[in-house]
Amino acid sequence: MTTPLSAAAIRARKGGARLVMLTAYDYPTARALDESGLDILLVGDSLGEVELGYDTTRAVSLEMMAHHVRAVRNGASATHVCGDLTAGSYATPGQAVASARRLVEAGADSVKLEGGLVAQVEAIIAAGIPVIGHVGLLPQTAEVYRREGTTPEEADRIAAEARALDAAGVCALVIEAVPAELAERITAEVGCPTIGIAAGPECDGQVLVVTDLVGGLPSAPRFVKPKADVYGAVVGAARAFAAEVRGAAAAEARRAV
Ligand code: KIV
Repeated sequence: MTTPLSAAAIRARKGGARLVMLTAYDYPTARALDESGLDILLVGDSLGEVELGYDTTRAVSLEMMAHHVRAVRNGASATHVCGDLTAGSYATPGQAVASARRLVEAGADSVKLEGGLVAQVEAIIAAGIPVIGHVGLLPQTAEVYRREGTTPEEADRIAAEARALDAAGVCALVIEAVPAELAERITAEVGCPTIGIAAGPECDGQVLVVTDLVGGLPSAPRFVKPKADVYGAVVGAARAFAAEVRGAAAAEARRAV
């Protein structure tokens, strides 16, 4: 039986086979992804946007996240499950540890948090819980979603943040929406694997929002080429069912006259 990758095994993938991470939010999707041989399932707080229909990830509470982590864990026995610490749930090191413990209790193998919060990362790791860092575009605090690190000053700040998180012991680092050259530079400067999204091809792995990958909504971000049309398949199946039911009812009504 395959067992989920440990944090040490994830960190040891630096420079080796690329890490493949997808988000997951529910039991059936987690089951399908667990069967697909991925390395990490991220119960991302993109949950709020693509699964629950809010216009911000900030709408997701820690309890909502724990509920979805449980559903994903129920479907994923072979894959490492990482839960996102939600906006406002890690303002201090103490709160960060309590929130991380809540997600582990719900079934997470590790947690992810946004930004260069070294004290929080150190406290969570000291409590025995692995952490994945996240730099570049930080959706929990961004006013608008835009490419980060496009000036030399911003690029240096993000690279410094990445090095500090690496030194604090994160097992991997998500880099979101930065120029490919900056992602490549960070990948060369840190000892943990980097996992990119909209950050070019040179990271140690890649992550996508599963809804975007499978065409679960009518449109996806420009950097994603959907590999399925789940939205279209649902509309098609529902229309076929409606036609079947209405057709049967019409035939019955004709028989009755
Ligand atoms: O919440 C999320 O889905 C994420 C990924 C975009 C990395 O943080």
